[in-house]
Amino acid sequence: MPGREARCGSACRQCTQTLATGGTNADRYTDFAAVPGALLESLAQRGGRKVRWIAMNSRVVRLLHVTDPHLLGDESGQIYDVNTSLSLRSVLQQARSDHAALPDAILVTGDIADDCSSEAYAHLRSQLQGWDVPVLCLPGNHDAPALMARMLGSDGFQYCGRAGFGDWAIVLLDSHLPRNPSGRVAAPELERLAAELRDAAERHVLVCLHHPPVPVGSAWLDAVGLQNGAEVLRVVERFSNVRAMLAGHVHQAFETRAGRLRILTTPSTCAQFTPDTENCIMDLRPPGYRWLELLADGSIRTEVCWLRNWEVSRRPTDSRASFMS
Ligand SMILES: [Fe+2]
Repeated sequence: MPGREARCGSACRQCTQTLATGGTNADRYTDFAAVPGALLESLAQRGGRKVRWIAMNSRVVRLLHVTDPHLLGDESGQIYDVNTSLSLRSVLQQARSDHAALPDAILVTGDIADDCSSEAYAHLRSQLQGWDVPVLCLPGNHDAPALMARMLGSDGFQYCGRAGFGDWAIVLLDSHLPRNPSGRVAAPELERLAAELRDAAERHVLVCLHHPPVPVGSAWLDAVGLQNGAEVLRVVERFSNVRAMLAGHVHQAFETRAGRLRILTTPSTCAQFTPDTENCIMDLRPPGYRWLELLADGSIRTEVCWLRNWEVSRRPTDSRASFMS
């Protein structure tokens, strides 16, 4: 796909912005406490900055994970031969019909705006607002962090930080590197990670970030992976209450373990990359999502769901091009 490198997040003007205009990730902490629905309204009126009350039907925390939607300001636009707005909408519709209960939250782990436009973030808001559940977001290599923090930091949307759900805490990390498809969790973010894990010592923890902290077995993807994955894992492994790490970036379902830690990635809501390849080869699998259920004993039930009735008509003509995930 000629010109792909020039269009990736690394070339976007907004990517040079810092979080200075959006506060720090440590400021963003929301505790979603489990209460019966009948109490919700009265509690909501007492909700402070850091505590928001939602109805959770049980002690099982249900999460819908969508990642790498690569939305465009122009909703008719395509990436990887896919109308990314339509594929996200189709994934969300299927996720809603596949499960009897609404999730307690939706996780979106980056590469939200392929063109770094405010319109693309607005499209995500409009597609998810009707769910009426918290939406937890973090940036990928294609995103513009400061713009994203502004666009997805209020009215039920949270950018990075930490969220609590009953027995579980979810920590959202920023691994974005300006003008670089690779990722890195910077020193202040690593310090925040350790502080969040200390604060959440009484809870099980799910750590989310865009770039998986370990290689996935595809040389070209691992070359643009998390530069300091081993360092991140060393911090996480100091805390025995961390149960899993959840990532996007690789546009495929992947699962492995690092010691006792479960590491998961999820297919994109648009196009997929074939696993275990030297170079980029598009996969013919359809868009997908992951459903997770976090249990009170610290275990996780999860499944990857692929979009039904979605025809991938052909591989992109330059499917071996090393464009960025
Ligand atoms: Fe991506």
